[in-house]
Amino acid sequence: MSTVSPLRPAAGNPATRPTLTDALRASVEARTAAALALLREAVAEFGTQGELTFANSFGAEDMVLTDLILANALPVEIFSLDTGRLPAETYTLIEQVEKRYATRLQVYFPDATAVENYVRTHGINAFYDSVELRKACCGVRKMAPLSRALAGKKAWITGLRAAQSVTRSGLATREFDAGNGLHKLNPLADWSEAEVWAYIRLREVPYNALHDQFYPSIGCAPCTRAISVGEDVRAGRWWWENPESKECGLHVKKG
Ligand code: ADX
Ligand code: SF4
Repeated sequence: MSTVSPLRPAAGNPATRPTLTDALRASVEARTAAALALLREAVAEFGTQGELTFANSFGAEDMVLTDLILANALPVEIFSLDTGRLPAETYTLIEQVEKRYATRLQVYFPDATAVENYVRTHGINAFYDSVELRKACCGVRKMAPLSRALAGKKAWITGLRAAQSVTRSGLATREFDAGNGLHKLNPLADWSEAEVWAYIRLREVPYNALHDQFYPSIGCAPCTRAISVGEDVRAGRWWWENPESKECGLHVKKG
């Protein structure tokens, strides 16, 4: 875990997030209506029997979608990939969500033998040693469970936003995910970070406590750190790698 300087900036801290102006409220309202319409269309198109699933990492964006789905009782399955290396704060939030919305979420774990083999061969923290070994760890702990989570589904929903990184610019609200062979919906593709936080505040949605400790983007504990003055929102993810390689494979386009 990195050290946090007292000079760290406001990013990720709700006390200093943009003020809820009338303009911001109006834009959140419009974006919420559009996202909800997209979700309802998806339910109508892909069905109500679990063919539509939402990949939930419990980051700020995913908490907006969690609230949209559960508060509106949309028949969308919600799953999360528990890599076994998540921060304690994320588990606390999962429990909070289950209590607040009186629901049980679908949690997928990695294959125990595959994790054991990786650790025995490469070491417990081998992801720091090379991009290849980092991707191999994501492969075992995230990608393989994702394949199980998406098996038999017609479409999946994510909390991706275009503004999050260079690798996500130009993101559409709807696309065909050729790699996984199903439709992919990104209802928050056009949302700004300010709109995400305004929604969370207006609806008093619970969120990951790490967001208040300068962690705007949260993944596994050993691969996420707080950010510093002027850094990009995803700078704390796999911080030892170049921005171009900073995707775990969940959202890499094939072909
Ligand atoms: S990542 O690819 O770098 O890990 P990021 O944390 O930005 O992704 O999250 C982007 C979207 O990927 C989330 O909004 C969510 O839909 C999905 N996602 C990421 N991590 C998980 C996870 N552990 N479980 C389920 N979905 C996830
Ligand atoms: Fe492994 Fe780090 Fe990827 Fe988590 S983010 S699966 S710990 S390499």
